[in-house]
Amino acid sequence: MDMNSIEQIIRERRTIRTLTDQTVALDVIYELLESASYAPYHSKEEPWEVIIVSEEQERQVFVKEIMDSYDRLDIWSRYDQQNVAKAKTRTQDYFLEVPLSLVVTAPIGESEKSNLEAIGAVSAFIQNIQLVAWSRQIGVTWRTIPVIFDKVFKQNIGVTEERQIIGLLDISKIDEKQKLPISRRNPVSQWAIGLTDKLSDFSENNE
Ligand SMILES: Cc1cc2nc3c(=O)[nH]c(=O)nc-3n(C[C@H](O)[C@H](O)[C@H](O)COP(=O)(O)O)c2cc1C
Repeated sequence: MDMNSIEQIIRERRTIRTLTDQTVALDVIYELLESASYAPYHSKEEPWEVIIVSEEQERQVFVKEIMDSYDRLDIWSRYDQQNVAKAKTRTQDYFLEVPLSLVVTAPIGESEKSNLEAIGAVSAFIQNIQLVAWSRQIGVTWRTIPVIFDKVFKQNIGVTEERQIIGLLDISKIDEKQKLPISRRNPVSQWAIGLTDKLSDFSENNE
């Protein structure tokens, strides 16, 4: 298939959950964010805000807040109690090892419409980060772990009540030798349909 480079990056990008210990320089992060900010938005102000966790001391604070939030939300009660200690250590170790994290937020809209527009624009912004990162051999995992809905967690990491977290992004360089994940998509014919066919399906199903 003849594809231009944008299309190729869109198709090839994968979520990278295997971290390397190689961080990404802050000036590169700022370049990614600047490019990402050309995402479409439909509000007076650009809706995205980003908190950057890059320094060791910031990571310690961030991970403590994540672990405290897991306790507060009673997440561990869902686990097999014999393995809780291990699961906690695994989670904590994982987040301690992430070289750099971004907390990406959007304003909470006052109407359904403005809320949708804010989440839509900030999601496009996050995808831009992922695509530009991929083009530069940088891996991203977009996470929506339960802590993002915890008011105390939000407050303790500096997210105001008027904003919502759309994603925590774990970021590290992709190791050249790393085996990249494969991800497939369903054929378009499975989920795209012309209006006439849709309406006839719809009326058949309602007969
Ligand atoms: C809104 C959103 C939330 C996500 N949350 C998580 C998450 O909490 N944990 C995780 O491991 N991956 C998360 N992902 C990544 C998806 O699991 C991943 O995109 C999906 O498996 C498709 O794989 P791909 O990104 O490699 O195409 C999230 C993705 C999106 C778009």
